[in-house]
Amino acid sequence: MSDGPTPARTIAARAVDLRKTYGKQEAEVRALDGVSIDVYEGEFTAVMGPSGSGKSTLMHLLAALDNATSGSVFIGDTELSGLNDKQLTRLRRDDVGFVFQAFNLVPTLTAEENILLPLSIAGRKPDPAWYDEVIDTVGLRDRLRHRPNEMSGGQQQRVAAARALVGRPTIVFADEPTGNLDSTSGAEVLSFLQHSVRELGQTVVMVTHDPVAASYTDRVVFLADGKVVDEMRAPTPETVLERMAKIQMRALETAAAAEGGAA
Ligand SMILES: Nc1ncnc2c1ncn2[C@@H]1O[C@H](COP(=O)(O)OP(=O)(O)O)[C@@H](O)[C@H]1O
Ligand SMILES: [Mg+2]
Repeated sequence: MSDGPTPARTIAARAVDLRKTYGKQEAEVRALDGVSIDVYEGEFTAVMGPSGSGKSTLMHLLAALDNATSGSVFIGDTELSGLNDKQLTRLRRDDVGFVFQAFNLVPTLTAEENILLPLSIAGRKPDPAWYDEVIDTVGLRDRLRHRPNEMSGGQQQRVAAARALVGRPTIVFADEPTGNLDSTSGAEVLSFLQHSVRELGQTVVMVTHDPVAASYTDRVVFLADGKVVDEMRAPTPETVLERMAKIQMRALETAAAAEGGAA
């Protein structure tokens, strides 16, 4: 068994030569400059990179929240550009969960109502066994009747994560989900996301700039200037920090060389 071939991993999402530009002519910004990435099912993947490197743009394109300038995106076997509006709406609703930095909960609804909102809108009921598993995993059973302003930031983000998971999407994207949290609350949310991957078999992609947050994941993909520049598996805070420093050094050298060439 142990020296047999590595089992083929199923791809949950894929980007192929993805490009995204904002603005026109002199004002043009190349946010993504040919990104190709495979996200494997049942893995927790981190995307890291300096501010402005294209992390949020990549998340939005992978989650079908925005259109690429060129290139293609697959969720499972489905290529997004082949879908009509109705199919896209269904895919966003059924196949993709999204967790935002700013929680985005509805203040007038209870935790339970917030978690069930996307399903309610779709006229669906949760699978009861899965719902129970998600609620226990987030550890919110005694908070279900509370409204967001009666909960800590960490609890609110766990509600947002439960909302993303409850429909059992193919993939969950989280854009700096711990960015607004103190380190204790951040650790709660990261543990929950990790647990949802390890114990519930979910697929999660998370943007972060925190090496400690990245160390909860299975794999880190590094972006710089709209390109994938590196990746690593089994990250630790130390190895991630070291790799980030290397990437930064390389960027400085490239900038210095460009300046030298221009002079
Ligand atoms: N809606 C937009 N209009 C114009 N430029 C944008 C827009 N969104 C992002 N950008 C630019 O694209 C680049 C990548 O942004 P973003 O994906 O938000 O990076 P990150 O999440 O890594 O900080 C940045 O230069 C940013 O200013
Ligand atoms: Mg961002």
